[in-house]
Amino acid sequence: MKKLKTALFCLIVGTGLQASAQTIKPIYLDNTKPIEERVGNALSLMTLEEKVEMCYAQSKFSSKGVPRLGIPEVWTDDGPHGVREEVFWNEWGGAHWTNDSCTAFPALTCLAATFNPETAHLYGISVGEEARYRNKTVLLGPGVNIYRTPLNGRNFEYMGEDPYLSSRIVIPYIQGVQQNGVAACVKHYALNNQEEWRGHINVNLSDRALHEIYLPAFKAAVEEGKVWAIMGAYNQLRGQHCCHNDLLLNKILKTDWKFDGVVISDWGGVHNTDQAVNNGLDLEMGTYTNGLTTNGSLPYSEYYLANPFLRGIKSGKYNVEMLNNKVSRILRMIFHTTMSPNRPYGKFVSPEHSDAARRIAEEGIVLLKNDNRFFPISAGKYQKIAVIGDNSTRSLTVGGGSSSLKAQYEVSPLAGLIAKYGKDQIVYSKGYASGQMKYGHEETSKQNADSLMNAAVETAKNADVVLFFGGLNKNHFQDSEGSDRKTYNLPFGQDKLIEALLKVNKNIAVILVSGNAVAMPWVKDVHAIVQSWYLGSEAGNAIANVLSGAVNPSGKLPFSFPKKLEDNAAHSYGTLSYPGDSINEYYKEDILVGYRWFDTKKIAPQFAFGFGLSYTTFEYGKIVTDKKTYSIDETIKVSFTLKNSGKADGAEAVQVYASQSKASVMRPAKELKAFKKVYLKAGEAQTVELEVKVKDLAFFNEKTHSWTVEPGEFILCNAASSSDVKSSVILQVY
Ligand code: BGC
Repeated sequence: MKKLKTALFCLIVGTGLQASAQTIKPIYLDNTKPIEERVGNALSLMTLEEKVEMCYAQSKFSSKGVPRLGIPEVWTDDGPHGVREEVFWNEWGGAHWTNDSCTAFPALTCLAATFNPETAHLYGISVGEEARYRNKTVLLGPGVNIYRTPLNGRNFEYMGEDPYLSSRIVIPYIQGVQQNGVAACVKHYALNNQEEWRGHINVNLSDRALHEIYLPAFKAAVEEGKVWAIMGAYNQLRGQHCCHNDLLLNKILKTDWKFDGVVISDWGGVHNTDQAVNNGLDLEMGTYTNGLTTNGSLPYSEYYLANPFLRGIKSGKYNVEMLNNKVSRILRMIFHTTMSPNRPYGKFVSPEHSDAARRIAEEGIVLLKNDNRFFPISAGKYQKIAVIGDNSTRSLTVGGGSSSLKAQYEVSPLAGLIAKYGKDQIVYSKGYASGQMKYGHEETSKQNADSLMNAAVETAKNADVVLFFGGLNKNHFQDSEGSDRKTYNLPFGQDKLIEALLKVNKNIAVILVSGNAVAMPWVKDVHAIVQSWYLGSEAGNAIANVLSGAVNPSGKLPFSFPKKLEDNAAHSYGTLSYPGDSINEYYKEDILVGYRWFDTKKIAPQFAFGFGLSYTTFEYGKIVTDKKTYSIDETIKVSFTLKNSGKADGAEAVQVYASQSKASVMRPAKELKAFKKVYLKAGEAQTVELEVKVKDLAFFNEKTHSWTVEPGEFILCNAASSSDVKSSVILQVY
């Protein structure tokens, strides 16, 4: 009886306590309350010092929360192709954990080459799950800087040359990441389109180029992707560093686009307290570390947004509202992520992630040339397949700067091909050597180039077919952060090697592993060319599936391949246009970037934007629109038939481009306005339907500083690439 009474007492008191705990639960912890109310409440409970402490780093990748209130720290991590290993508190170096080896997903160039927003969603979900499992608040990616020059060392981390394609791909990536309760951080805002002098180069360009070419993907990330964080770029725009640039951050991002998330600096991208306070930066990271390789020379408390900010507020120099605004943004992001009750648990290196990585890779590989049906090579077709080239064995998930990954595994192309064809069918020779990957400097190989070449020639001589795996790698001066490429040509003597191989065996295909276009002096001489990107953990399996025909390639180029460097718009204007004079750089090509330049100036590229072959063939019907005339607020419904006229099932990324017949300003010959990946069985036909909003036919009007659609005649065409137009239709806008 006594026991029962005690139990009853406990129950009553317990329930009462629970009730009173509930009633006194502060609003910021109450998930049923609107987020803005929670933010306001948390702010009201914080001291000035606690607020300032949230605005700058406490370690290499993290910033403080408010431990007294149970508000967690913010933990960021690279991004964008997988979740980077843990590093020491105050160093870039890996901390040698044994539980942080991730799945490496394909590079974003590959994702863009899929031309498939659904695949981008799969990518975002998968990498977001890995970031969530590792308990990250922010994944530092994706990157959407526009491909302006093939020399940019970081193009492999971005989504190509077209603002529309990158906009459509970035949105689902962000949504996929963020549905895991992890913030995506779209980067590098903006105009970090080269690595050379990236820390200070001052970009000069027209408002039109800024809005039409370089900002749309960021805008889509904010307005449609609802991204929770954005990273400022290292470079300057019009005399101000982008991490505290009034125009980019206060005016465009926060006022025009109504961004309510966090502006995070690139690591070491902040240079001035007044500007950091007033020009829209919220969270300062990586200062006094050059953003790169060295340890801090000053403590975190001396960051621009640390004690100097606090002192400024106390002395009345800075308005406390500025501080509250920054902290509100950080709190909002924390409520969306680590303090969200709906945060799932994530997954790490799961079979689903390997599967996703492989599928994305398979879908992004681009078949550029395939004479006499060189590919697919079915098992048993050849007795001896020579696999030649350093990129068939080299780890390519490692290197390249901040996107370098400690992958749990990486299937090399050679391993993938051996698994596919059997070890007795494959002979391997390295062919060329490219040295160790070292961040920040080039280390040339000590191996003898001639003997490597001679051995490869011998191997090729005795083989039925040669698969040459070359391209670039993640070394300094290749596809790497912190440096641009020095030349457009293939490095490490590969052109010479291909020439030598051709002399002994004509049955040769080149598989380029790179995130950039390269010169191809041998383009006519080889039977087949495949553009393979940095494909991550599943690289070898994906390549073997495509080369053997288990998967029919459907990737298309997200950027043009010029025949020679001077054919590229930025380069055709000389060094002031790229790379600049070390202080200033002028984007003289203006809006004519990528295929906009090639088409308008009638320069034939080596391979056009949007181009990619398949093992089957597709027949396009004539494009039609639902009407002939449209008002500005209407949507044009476009349709045409697409038939798989070949013998294999396959997918085609169909593209719709628009042009204006007569305009008051120069307009490019055509611009991508819609695309779709269409899957068709052999012999199957389908009516493809796409939509183009009339307002998307606008140009950025520098006179009125707004988007303008000029009434008149427009032409829409359906195309298999920017240089392969199938048919067109004329319509009027009134
Ligand atoms: C890079 C960023 C990266 C950051 C943190 C910087 O050097 O530019 O993209 O997220 O380092 O590693």
